[in-house]
Amino acid sequence: MNQIGVNELSKYWGLDEETIFLNHGSYGATPRIVLEEQTRWQLLLERDPVKFFEEIAPDALINSRKAIANLVNCDYNDLALIENATSGVNTILRSLNFEKGDEIIVPNHAYQACRNAIDYIAEKSGAVVVTCEIPFPISKKQIIIDNIMECVTEKTKLAMIDTVTSPTGLLMPFKELVDLLESKGINVLLDAAHGIGMIPLDLENIGASFTTSNCHKWLFAPKGAAFLHVRKDLQHLIRPLVISHGMTIPLGDSTRFRHEFDWTGTRDISALCTLPFIIEEITKLVNMNWDEIMIHNNKLAVEGRKIICEKLGIPLPCPDDMISSIATIKISSNAIKNVKLHEPDPLHLELLEKYNIQVPVWYWPNPEGRYIRISAQVYNNEKEYRYLAKILKKCL
Ligand SMILES: Cc1ncc(COP(=O)(O)O)c(C=O)c1O
Repeated sequence: MNQIGVNELSKYWGLDEETIFLNHGSYGATPRIVLEEQTRWQLLLERDPVKFFEEIAPDALINSRKAIANLVNCDYNDLALIENATSGVNTILRSLNFEKGDEIIVPNHAYQACRNAIDYIAEKSGAVVVTCEIPFPISKKQIIIDNIMECVTEKTKLAMIDTVTSPTGLLMPFKELVDLLESKGINVLLDAAHGIGMIPLDLENIGASFTTSNCHKWLFAPKGAAFLHVRKDLQHLIRPLVISHGMTIPLGDSTRFRHEFDWTGTRDISALCTLPFIIEEITKLVNMNWDEIMIHNNKLAVEGRKIICEKLGIPLPCPDDMISSIATIKISSNAIKNVKLHEPDPLHLELLEKYNIQVPVWYWPNPEGRYIRISAQVYNNEKEYRYLAKILKKCL
């Protein structure tokens, strides 16, 4: 067993004991007790699928929405449970009507899959994609605010803003941006894929038009668990990607938004059913409440980044208060030859295959460079970043 990657909590995860796992950020990692809870739901489904979908599931999903709403402060009726943030972003983009010349703002640090969804909609509608240039390294968050606000014109209809950027790990000043943009009548789509469980989210207070967040990343849910929050005044515009029974079910005392998002066809909803269990039980497992988990992970990411930057002689690429539980370091300004976006960097493979360290290293075209991104989670410890720093020093 690789002793470097062991702490008193790592035993609760099924992660490969030989690997130093420093990439919680990509797909999360789910503790065993959560997977057992998911299996319990799957077995319950298969005992009587009819009873499950017609009697048990509706209540279970209401409980899941209530548990999420409680953690992110919103009305549980404004939440749709979906599979992932990519589908949340697509749901909004494909529901809204864009006209020729409408402008959509997206920072150059946006997650490529979501950027693709914007490009797709723009191509179909004639809308214009306005890419906001944000530098990295970056010295203060005001630069982000200024650069984004400079992109605003009277044609701006929507801005997609990350809570935490994927390639560069920046904690965005999203609350300030939502205030400024929404006050100008611009709808903000908050891509909080790195959101619930990682940073405090108070959706009522933030006030974004739309927010989507993954539960399978920092909330430890099984894969395929996310939510989409749509502000009440906009719900009549938003339709699920899949049109199903909800379109024609008599309204009763519910809303079309509820009916349409509550049933999008038969599917495995077990990951979503585990959410109340997770929110309650994880805190007991790790003996920290959710705020303490976030603070713990933030401190560890700050420390891990410092260890690596010091060892490599690289200045911190942004102030500590601009990162949360992931941190990106630019290891060179140029791409290494022939490595393109989406292709594994040879250093990533070397770290994994030779040194058993799972950590992303990638090329990003704008701001161009080669980046390494660490994650910090309760199963990680400082020794792991020291080891990575030592190996990086040797490899680079
Ligand atoms: C900022 C951001 N948006 C969206 C996503 C997509 O998440 P998913 O693949 O779960 O849809 C990610 C995934 O890493 C992300 O980092």
